[in-house]
Amino acid sequence: MCGIVGAVGLDTVENFLIDGLRRLEYRGYDSAGIAVLQPDGAVRRARSVGKVAMLDASRDRAITGHTGIAHTRWATHGGATENNAHPHRAGRVTLVHNGIIENFQELRRSLQADGYSFQSETDTEVVAGLLDRALARTGSAKAAMLDVVPQLQGAYALAVLFDTEPGMLFGARHGAPLLAGMKAGAGFIASDALALTGYASHVCYLENGDLVAVTKDGIEVFGVDGVKHQRELHKSSGSAILADKGNYKYFMLKEIHEQAEVVGRTLTAHVDALGSTVKQHEGLDLSRANRILIIGCGTAALAGRVAEYWLEGLAGIPVDVDIASEFRYRDPVLSPDDVAIFISQSGETADTLEAMRLCKEAGAKTIALVNTLHSTMARDADLVLPTLAGPEIGVASTKAFTCQLIVLASLALLVAKQRGRLTGEQEVEQVTDLLEVPGLISEALDIESQIAEMAVELATKQTVLYLGRHQFFPLALEGALKLKEISYIHAEGYAAGELKHGPIALIEPGVSVIAIAPHDALFAKTQSSIEQVLARGGSVIAITDEAGAKALASTPVDIVKLPSSSGMATAFACTIAIQLIAYYVAVEKGTDVDQPRNLAKSVTVE
Ligand code: M6R
Repeated sequence: MCGIVGAVGLDTVENFLIDGLRRLEYRGYDSAGIAVLQPDGAVRRARSVGKVAMLDASRDRAITGHTGIAHTRWATHGGATENNAHPHRAGRVTLVHNGIIENFQELRRSLQADGYSFQSETDTEVVAGLLDRALARTGSAKAAMLDVVPQLQGAYALAVLFDTEPGMLFGARHGAPLLAGMKAGAGFIASDALALTGYASHVCYLENGDLVAVTKDGIEVFGVDGVKHQRELHKSSGSAILADKGNYKYFMLKEIHEQAEVVGRTLTAHVDALGSTVKQHEGLDLSRANRILIIGCGTAALAGRVAEYWLEGLAGIPVDVDIASEFRYRDPVLSPDDVAIFISQSGETADTLEAMRLCKEAGAKTIALVNTLHSTMARDADLVLPTLAGPEIGVASTKAFTCQLIVLASLALLVAKQRGRLTGEQEVEQVTDLLEVPGLISEALDIESQIAEMAVELATKQTVLYLGRHQFFPLALEGALKLKEISYIHAEGYAAGELKHGPIALIEPGVSVIAIAPHDALFAKTQSSIEQVLARGGSVIAITDEAGAKALASTPVDIVKLPSSSGMATAFACTIAIQLIAYYVAVEKGTDVDQPRNLAKSVTVE
């Protein structure tokens, strides 16, 4: 969602700010802005609706200095207009903000009573006003921060520039990520480590309730009581090159192609390739667990729904999969014998974090299956199962999803072993199958040019339905989610067996159905659903394998033939097909594939 960058002590801070905003573009936003403290002591701003490139092209080149803050905004309070874009300014305070200040109306009224007027509809401008009023009263920037931050309710991250403290930036974190960084002669602040890679030599991840003061000489973290907090400094990892598209047209395509590598890398953290056995993780013993809860949002929740089949089928343990935004509001019945797994690429999704808090309160063991290792979820969970996908920039989740699946597949084997449902021989057989997944993914990518051709026709459709059974049902949901989020075509996923209970009414000439139908034990059932669609004039694309293609040879369907595989591995090959379909249809439609409209990469507000 929104993104924050700031720096103090750089020669031309504006160049860093623009570069930092570019790196945060992937998070999704609709306006952007920078504010720089000029050598003459004045703060000047440039803001614009639309892309960072538009801000960069239109900004006044005379806006330059050593200290500044910048922001990409995803509209919540007030539309996507230049006036609502950050940074906001009140009196001697300039500020950017991620998140939502829930009590902003009450705070706004109190400022109005003191004669403040507002230029925007945002909750952010209210915080700037409060800080300016507190600065006038206390005479100190730090005292103003200590006075105002405890008044704020909601989830937020702030970066603040006071005219009175030209060599310093302040920050505050409560429920939205924020980190501080440093190198010799400069200090930084950002909401995402990617903005600082290559700039800061060390970074420090703030905790909820932390305030920070950053100067060119260092970082000071303290609490709302003003008392210093000790926070670890980490060597800044990664490289800016990670945020490069290379020769690919979009990050999404690059990330689709990276999957063989990152799934392989993630797998080796969870299985022993030499012995073909699953690795034990310290503190992870589900032999006596009552049930597993899997909670996430969007694609992450769908990874959980695929795993439900695997965990129940292999390990014989009850599994309940929930969407975090529903879970948190439905009084779930929880017990300390439950193990709750939270799946998230970002580790910062607000609903999933809140669901985790509920489970912790109930005494359940919490496991974070996350891609961002310094995220709030990773830090708050009892145990972390990492995915090693590397930064995922495209808003549509691809490589994070397949990495989540490979961790969940390994986990299903581990739990089956712990519960005495997997012999040594079966373990070797199953792990050997998983070790073939990276190769299978590479081979599956051979369908790319065929999919690109098919996309021309699919892009003309009003509605596309996806069907699947068993583990391919959640993949049908994922295929539909992927298509709608980047191509804006109306798409729905159904369990193939449900077709006749309602969705079949939608079938008529012109409607396209994508059937995920590898030749497994349920193939004949899905084949009959395909026949039902054809009988009503719908057209069908069947995602299948050699045996499935043979069985469908005399059926008038378009075949996408994947390499043959079995068991859990087949889900990976099918995932490549649904990702490529969504990608090429979106390209054909000319949408903004990496930053689709209205969407954010990491949804840090409710
Ligand atoms: O960062 P998270 O994995 O928690 O994000 C969850 C969803 O917002 C995310 O998977 C979303 O559905 C993707 N855009 C789908 O491609």
